Amino acid sequence: MSGRYLNRREFLKVSALLGGTAILAACAPKATPTSPPKKEEAAPTVAKATAPPKVEEAAGELEIFSWWTSGGEVEALNGLFRVYGERHPQVEIINAALAGGSGAAGAGMKAVLKTRMLGGEPPDSFQVHLGHELIDTHVVADRMEPLDALYEGEGWVDVFPPDVVQMASWQGKPWSVPVNIHRSNCFFYNLKMFENVSKDPPATWDEFFEVGEAMKAKDQALLGIAGSGGAFSGHVFETMLMATFDPDSYRGLFTGKTSWEDERVTEALEIFKRALDYSNPDYASVGWGDINDLMVSGRVAVIIQGDWTPGVLWSKDFHDFGWVASPGTTGIYGTLSDSFGLPKGAPNRENAINWLRVVGSKEGQDAFNPAKGSIPARTDPDLSLYTEYHKDAMADFAKDELVPSVAHGTAAKESFMTDYVNVFVQFIANKDVDVAQAELVEAAEDAEFSE
Ligand code: GAL
Repeated sequence: MSGRYLNRREFLKVSALLGGTAILAACAPKATPTSPPKKEEAAPTVAKATAPPKVEEAAGELEIFSWWTSGGEVEALNGLFRVYGERHPQVEIINAALAGGSGAAGAGMKAVLKTRMLGGEPPDSFQVHLGHELIDTHVVADRMEPLDALYEGEGWVDVFPPDVVQMASWQGKPWSVPVNIHRSNCFFYNLKMFENVSKDPPATWDEFFEVGEAMKAKDQALLGIAGSGGAFSGHVFETMLMATFDPDSYRGLFTGKTSWEDERVTEALEIFKRALDYSNPDYASVGWGDINDLMVSGRVAVIIQGDWTPGVLWSKDFHDFGWVASPGTTGIYGTLSDSFGLPKGAPNRENAINWLRVVGSKEGQDAFNPAKGSIPARTDPDLSLYTEYHKDAMADFAKDELVPSVAHGTAAKESFMTDYVNVFVQFIANKDVDVAQAELVEAAEDAEFSE
């Protein structure tokens, strides 16, 4: 028990804010995927489970910014809107989700958000990753309100894991409300395509390449790579780093303790270069949304992505997939969390605070996460609403070694993330391991990582 706690503290060190740990992920092949319960079934249960707070006189508008425009994401966000609408029927919700923003892990939305924040025209609340993205980009810049009173009033310190509260905190106060926990190092595979080439999904990169050869012999691509924009190839690469490094050394990449010149970075880049030979040939121009379709249509057998992928696949009525941890990462949970905060100068501040109440509520989280694929940030979900995938993820989160995601704002400040993503835009084009590593080293120097 105490070792586990220490591990979590190690994870926190990564960003001075982030949470971390667990033991071995169950991640034995799981091949009985189920879709989330239909909303019609779920709604009455949720409504009964928690008595809605008394409807207030709240009126006016509520503008919510996010990059959730894909299948699964939209249903999840609508779940939150539904709960809000039940509590505050007079308030008009303006869904300012930015279409296409998710093509680069929210880069499009974040650019617009930045302009509005700097111009003194914030939305009422916006989606933001816990960790460096929240703290360095928005809190340290003095553009957010602290939420300690709200946390206290809503009793959230008791229902969010301490690590998650830490991830939301700076200078002893929480600054946003987490709605979920996503896992980044997931390997989702098309069960039918796998049937003919391999009994089990690969547990290591060596096994991955064996399966890749077997598929090549059938003229099929193994791995779906979304190289356009850099964020989602950078995402695949972070899972390779999680495989070549042990968790502590991986965390050290973002605290200055581990050098980006390390040979395990080289090894991960070599793996990536080789994996491209077993990928969809158009990987350089393909975006994140496209690889889901490639998987559904049987043109690639595997997606290495975060667990928003089940949400997308369910929304396409595709259920014939299994899941394990990405090669070499069994027992490791690449972690990120979506949250919402309260910008200073929010035009409809009271409505925004009520929104945060919904985001942090059991009812809100149980309306959001079943469709999204993520697990709730709260520890008291109504398990009857969740799928086998969610239950596996909850079990793994409780015992795996938690490490922060780079591509999704958790591990490092925004400037590093931008450089990191750019490295992969180029790497996809030139596959030059030496150049990519030199650029990563330079990006880390510029970021001046420290503990
Ligand atoms: C992540 C975000 C997820 C999901 C994904 C793809 O950055 O945390 O919630 O939306 O991007 O859009």
